[in-house]
Amino acid sequence: MKMTIKEKILSQLLAAKGEPVSGQKLADELNISRTMIWKYLKGLEEEGYVIEAVKKKGYVLQSIPDVVSKERISPYLTTSHLGQNIMYYPICDSTQNIAAEKAREGAPHGTLVITEEQTAGRGRLERSWDSTANKGVWMSVIIRPEISPHLAPQFTLVSAVAITKAIEDITGCVAEIKWPNDLLMNGKKVTGILTELQAEMDRVQSIIIGIGVNVNQEVEAFDVSIQSLATSLKIETGSEVNRPELVAKILYYLEKYSNIYIESGFEPIKLLWESYSCTIGKRIRASLLKETLEGVAIGITNEGVLQLQLDDGEIRGIYSADIHL
Ligand code: BTN
Repeated sequence: MKMTIKEKILSQLLAAKGEPVSGQKLADELNISRTMIWKYLKGLEEEGYVIEAVKKKGYVLQSIPDVVSKERISPYLTTSHLGQNIMYYPICDSTQNIAAEKAREGAPHGTLVITEEQTAGRGRLERSWDSTANKGVWMSVIIRPEISPHLAPQFTLVSAVAITKAIEDITGCVAEIKWPNDLLMNGKKVTGILTELQAEMDRVQSIIIGIGVNVNQEVEAFDVSIQSLATSLKIETGSEVNRPELVAKILYYLEKYSNIYIESGFEPIKLLWESYSCTIGKRIRASLLKETLEGVAIGITNEGVLQLQLDDGEIRGIYSADIHL
C-alpha cells in the first residue's frame, strides 16, 4: 500500500519505540521542510497522539490514541489485498450497510469498512448487535471472489477459521467455533460473523463479511440480559488487546484462507473448521424456522451444511438455525 506522508512519519515514530526521531532526518528522508514535518506532527496531536519534542534530539511518541483508524492499522498490515483500502468512521449506523453501499458503487476487492461505534449494528436472523464504543472490532470486508453464488456461505466458515487463528496468535487463547458463525470462549460468545451477498444468478459481485469481536469490554459493558452469554477477549485473558494489530491479523488470515479455499477448495478449510468446532460430535438442539430438532451433530458437508443425526438415525441437513449445545 502506498503510504501517505503522515503515515510514513507515524511509522518512523512507532519504529523508534520511545527513542527520539530527528526532525531533520525525517525532513531529509521525506524530502519536505522541517516546518512541514512540524505541521504533520501537530495534525497527529490533534488526532490524539502525544508527541514530545526533546531538545536537540527530536520527537518521541509518548502515547497513541486507542482507535482503529487507517493510520493505526496500516503499520501492522501484511496483506496484498485485504485492508489495502480502509474506510474509517468514528461512528456509523452499521459497517455492513456502508460496505453494501460502497460495494454497489464499485469499491475494490479487499476494502475494509471499520468503525469505533455502531448505532444500528446488525446480527444474524435480523437481531441487533451491541457495539460498545472504542472497545470492540466492528468491521466489514468487501471481497470479490470469482465463484458461483451458492458457494458464498462457505466464506462464513473461512472467516470463522481466520478469526480463530488471529485471536490465537494475538492472545494465545483458543476460541471454539459454534456452527455456523459464533466464536465462543468458556462457552460465551466473543465474536459474531454476518456474511451478506451481492450477486447475479450465476456470479458473485461481492461478499460482505461483517465481523464483530468483543475485545476490551469489562463485564459491566454488556447488558445484564446478555452477561451470561457474551464475553470479551479482555475478560477471558485478563489483558487489554491492541485492536489495530488484531484487525491486521484477522485480515492476514482471511486473505490466507480465502486464497487456500479458491486454490484448493473447501476440504482444507473444513478440516481446520472441524478441529476448532465445539458443535461436531455433540448432542444439540437446532431451532429452525418452523420446527426444533434434537440429535447429534455429526459433521458439515462440503457446502458447510450441518449434518444432524436424529434419534431415529435419519440424517438432516441444517442450512440455518439457532444451535443450543
Ligand atoms: C451474529 O453473530 O449474529 C453476527 C454479528 C455480526 C456483527 C458485525 S459488527 C460489524 C458488522 N456490522 C454489522 O452491523 N454487523 C456486523
